Amino acid sequence: MEASVDTTAGTPDGVSRRGFLTRVGAVGGATALYGTMEALGLLASPAQAAEEAGDFAPLRPADLPAAANGTKVAILGAGTAGLTVAYELGKAGYDCHVLEARDRPGGRAKTIRGGDRLTDTDGVTQICRFDEGHYYNAGPSRIPSHHLTIEYCRELGVAIEPMVNANAEGFYYHENTATVNYGELASTAVTHRQAKADVYGYISELLVTVADQGALDAVLSSDDVDRLVSLANSLGGLSNRRYTGNNRRGYSVPPGAGDQPGTVAGPPPSMTAILQSQLGTRFSFEFGFDQAMMMWQPVGGMDRISAALASAIDGRRRITYNAPVTGIDNTADGVRVTYRSNGRTRVLDADYCVVTIPPMVLKSIPSNFSTATKDALAVPVGANSGRMGIQFKRRFWEEDLNIYGGVTHTNLDVSGIYYPSYGYFSPKGVLVGYYSGAYTNLPVPERETRALMQGAKIHGDVYHQEFDNSFSVAWPKEPYSLGAWVSWPGGRGAAYQHLLQADGRTYFAGDHLSYYTAWQNGAFLSARKVVTDLHTRVAATV
Ligand code: FAD
Ligand code: ALA
Repeated sequence: MEASVDTTAGTPDGVSRRGFLTRVGAVGGATALYGTMEALGLLASPAQAAEEAGDFAPLRPADLPAAANGTKVAILGAGTAGLTVAYELGKAGYDCHVLEARDRPGGRAKTIRGGDRLTDTDGVTQICRFDEGHYYNAGPSRIPSHHLTIEYCRELGVAIEPMVNANAEGFYYHENTATVNYGELASTAVTHRQAKADVYGYISELLVTVADQGALDAVLSSDDVDRLVSLANSLGGLSNRRYTGNNRRGYSVPPGAGDQPGTVAGPPPSMTAILQSQLGTRFSFEFGFDQAMMMWQPVGGMDRISAALASAIDGRRRITYNAPVTGIDNTADGVRVTYRSNGRTRVLDADYCVVTIPPMVLKSIPSNFSTATKDALAVPVGANSGRMGIQFKRRFWEEDLNIYGGVTHTNLDVSGIYYPSYGYFSPKGVLVGYYSGAYTNLPVPERETRALMQGAKIHGDVYHQEFDNSFSVAWPKEPYSLGAWVSWPGGRGAAYQHLLQADGRTYFAGDHLSYYTAWQNGAFLSARKVVTDLHTRVAATV
């Protein structure tokens, strides 16, 4: 592939760049040429230029020079990143082989269904007892519209459906702590709609009050003060410049036919009670760039994406499951990977390697990586989080409370209760009873007992009465994850930068090497970056 930059500009020693590179290539061969071009910043291929511009140019068969046909790439890990590397390189005809320690593709993109079995690092095995058709996503559960994940769903034909990430009928629930008193609304399940009406109402009233007192005259023109008051009236649903409640809160007696106008729920708690409740501090969640509706999920479970990727790369031929990697060594002209399979140690030799194994796992796998790489792999820290799916015999949240999907947010250690965005009206249902790291170190039965006790504070006895069974995943105890995602202590510093480069012929990819940690989007982006880097190198060195 042609470098898209001017190679005739002078080098520091006055030799033309093209002449200089020709001599390096003649003396040192392709690898030396590659290294020199990299040092001179001359590896801006069309694909790389597209990536730098924020685009990605998918490879085509014509992009792989004839001399590079058959270039073999070992890909370690069949999660989102590894599968995407295989998928994208495969478009140009690279010979990709994926080794995966688990018995299925997807890695953390794990959907739990009846019959699934997991053994954690404590040796504790759970077997899921959900009914047919029910599941929960133990890892990723939501996809914002602007993520690459959606583009891959489109390309792979994975059907998506709305994931309800905000629901006016969901609750906020704050329980007093040793240090915080939430006032009269403590330990009260308040619907999102009611909390929003009251918080926006009182904040708007305050704005009008200070405007009326002239307190904004120094910063706003009188026209802007009028506009602000009009905005406050609209946001707050004020009457006569005051917030006294309105039908945004809901009805105690619903409107009906004929002469039944309904009775608005109220009166609202006082302004002090609303401020003390701190319920308004919860609203920023759904303002988040990556959390705002519309939100999506694959129909049938998040693992449908990895299943589609595995099928697109001819996974039966190209992926070896139950194959934990035990060693990675760069060699003079390739990479040698050792792994276990069917009780034996085996070897996979390849021209290049892409490692997508999470760093918390990878750092303990023997390798001949440089000291700098080994040091860098030791930096990221695994995040503590987990999710419990609880099957209930009856969808009481729908039947009794009109909650069809969405989230209850709480300061209880369950953190959130996620109502399923599928299977509406079915007799049973699986909700996410906690999304939290607080349960990781509890024995499995105690996780269940505690999650039910906490959920019952919000939902009442029905939470116990309709309980059927549960399944929990604690990501730090998942042997091939050792964390839900990574954090980079002190930020993305030298270690992060180091791992963006290849060590010999080995590249690193995964959501941890993106600015989208804890999102599949990051795994897709990182995979694309490595595909571009690796292909640029191959094209420049044949
Ligand atoms: P992984 O999926 O971890 O893939 C690594 C692969 O390497 C795994 O398959 C693993 O089994 C394999 N492996 C490990 N060790 C070995 C070995 N020795 N030999 C061979 N193979 C090995 N993303 C979203 O988009 N939306 C969300 O809502 C969301 N929520 C999340 C919630 C939770 C609780 C978690 C845990 C994650 C969430 N994510 C979410 C993030 C998403 O799961 C990740 O970004 C993505 O799955 C990472 O893909 P990956 O390929 O980089 O890593
Ligand atoms: N991206 C993860 C989530 O949305 C953390 O839950």
